[in-house]
Amino acid sequence: MNSAQLTRRFEDSFGSKPRIFCAPGRVNLLGEHTDYNEGFVMPCAIGFSTRVAIAPRSDRKLVVQSEEFSEKFEFDLDNLPGRGSGTWSDYVIGVAVMLQRMGHQTPGASLLVRGEVPIGAGLSSSAAIEVASALALISLNGAKLSLPEVAKLCQKTENVFIGARVGIMDQFVSCLGKAGHALLLDCRSLEFKLIPIQESVRLVICNTMVKHEHASGAYNRRREECDEGVKLLTQWHPEIRALRDVSVEQLERHQAAMPATIYKRCLHVVAENQRVQEGAKDLSAGDLDGFGGLMRQSHHSLRDLFEVSCRELDVMVEIAESLNGYCGGRMTGGGFGGCTVNLVRTADAESFAGQIAERYQTVVGIKPDVYICAAADGATAG
Ligand code: GLA
Repeated sequence: MNSAQLTRRFEDSFGSKPRIFCAPGRVNLLGEHTDYNEGFVMPCAIGFSTRVAIAPRSDRKLVVQSEEFSEKFEFDLDNLPGRGSGTWSDYVIGVAVMLQRMGHQTPGASLLVRGEVPIGAGLSSSAAIEVASALALISLNGAKLSLPEVAKLCQKTENVFIGARVGIMDQFVSCLGKAGHALLLDCRSLEFKLIPIQESVRLVICNTMVKHEHASGAYNRRREECDEGVKLLTQWHPEIRALRDVSVEQLERHQAAMPATIYKRCLHVVAENQRVQEGAKDLSAGDLDGFGGLMRQSHHSLRDLFEVSCRELDVMVEIAESLNGYCGGRMTGGGFGGCTVNLVRTADAESFAGQIAERYQTVVGIKPDVYICAAADGATAG
């Protein structure tokens, strides 16, 4: 559904003319579970987006409706909830709540949401709805926030209102991604660099169609394990603030004094940060096989050290190895299901997509969704 169609639907529902804001989902090429360790990531925005149409109302209500779900939510602006209630509207209302807490009062408004980012696939449908909602609400309340500030607002919504301790990656790239480019982000300083991805490759995203139950609990547990690692390491190196400040050599020196699980988690993060730095050089130099090799290493590390992969993701990654045009690939996002991302020569992308779908279905018994993507632009108004 394009903006003109959404405008018409909005006019039919609310009887006024809306403005439309649009924010994309993302896929992460390299740098997994590094963002909340103040490290480096390299995601890009993808062509699936969420659109939010908004118009002011004369009362003190926020009325939120979606094209995908039938419930309509009404909130009293003078009595907004303090926490999410577990529905999709949390991502809209949570942003309004966080804006209010920052001192930006939102006037009454009607919002209509249309999401096209696959839900539950690990492609950040939640970041997309948060960012589009934030831009929409800001357009009415006049808050002057830069895009990195919008990303931080949306991350805070997740952390405080939803209760997910996520890092900044998804919201940041949804705001600032650029077509044809990967975004190399320093999650400590929020400095970033756009690195062109050659036209000769496509990003083939393969959805395993599974999301294992324990995913969000395990995510928070991994964060705690990383924090535990930092705490241990500061005994010997008081200057360390986050795993970002640790080198592989430093870590190896203290292996014997660390619980085995904590050591493995830390080793993944520390080496993954190095891989992102190397990967940025490879991609800039057009060395796609070099970059692909780092993606493979990343998958192995996520599987064996960070332990956030699962059988379906491993099967999808293994099948890719035998196909033509494959430069490299790995699981992408938080893990325990969701998608793999594959760097595939453009000329082979169609046949790669067809074959991986067929073979995955034969082995796992589920038909996967496969998308041939290129990096897309971040959030827009209009
Ligand atoms: C999820 C989170 C991100 C990041 C990834 C893992 O997508 O939202 O902040 O931590 O997991 O890299």
